Amino acid sequence: MSQAGFGPIIEASGVVKQYGTVTALSGLNLKVVPGEIYGVLGPNGAGKSTLIKIINGLIEPTSGTVKVLGYDPSTNPVEVKSSIGYVSENSTLYESLSPRDFFEFVASVRKLDPKLANERVARLATAFGLNEYYDSPIATLSMGTKQKVSIVAALMHEPPLLLLDEPLNGLDAKSSRILKDLISFHTEKNRGAVLFSTHIMEVAEHICTRIGIIYQGKIVAEGSLDELRQAASGQQGGSATLEEVFLKLTHEEEEIAETVRTLREAFFASK
Ligand SMILES: Nc1ncnc2c1ncn2[C@@H]1O[C@H](COP(=O)(O)OP(=O)(O)OP(=O)(O)O)[C@@H](O)[C@H]1O
Ligand SMILES: [Mg+2]
Repeated sequence: MSQAGFGPIIEASGVVKQYGTVTALSGLNLKVVPGEIYGVLGPNGAGKSTLIKIINGLIEPTSGTVKVLGYDPSTNPVEVKSSIGYVSENSTLYESLSPRDFFEFVASVRKLDPKLANERVARLATAFGLNEYYDSPIATLSMGTKQKVSIVAALMHEPPLLLLDEPLNGLDAKSSRILKDLISFHTEKNRGAVLFSTHIMEVAEHICTRIGIIYQGKIVAEGSLDELRQAASGQQGGSATLEEVFLKLTHEEEEIAETVRTLREAFFASK
């Protein structure tokens, strides 16, 4: 099996995804190498979750190629899935199981050594404050606690690639901080890679080594925050925030101004 540390972890080229008449991805190219934390930013419906599901082999592209550690997710699903820890945007867990049963189930499906898996889960569960919920049915847990269960399950087998679809959704400040530290640790220590989508500009700004802005199914700009600032302003050393860069590159600045103007007229017009 190819290993993290040699060659790209993700390589996507010319990826198109059609859902009927809707084009979710329109020729997307992406390369992520070991050690990178790649943040995908984009407006609702831009294609972030579709991209993540295609990398994970959950859906097939209409055309184009995707490789994870050199493997094609549709022809080598086992190799690809064992290399990935995935947290979906709306985690559907086995609601009647408790976290303890769920982690045991995941460990057996992934054929992990039970002792090592237990030790790792115990450390992660303690870090995320899950211990008091360990034997409660998942159905009874709060949204953020379910999210933590998904995150622990995704990290259990120490995969080279973490694919996280809006992983901070529902997490409280302490757990967000722990996850952000785990993400940094994963890439520094294990030379793994992380690709995650988020709407939280601040997070992308602080933890990503590279940010890709996806708009209408394509990456329209990519690079470090400074490189994106340059791309947005057309000059070196711009001082725009990532939010300003994002709105500019996704052409949403004018749309927002127009929407606000329309709303103001509709609701606050002087009588
Ligand atoms: N199963 C599906 N069937 C039909 N259309 C779909 C399906 N899944 C996604 N789409 C469409 O594909 C496009 C991209 O959706 P996707 O979920 O990838 O966006 P996203 O960037 O993750 O958005 P969000 O920020 O809201 O999570 C949207 O137009 C969406 O309506
Ligand atoms: Mg999404």
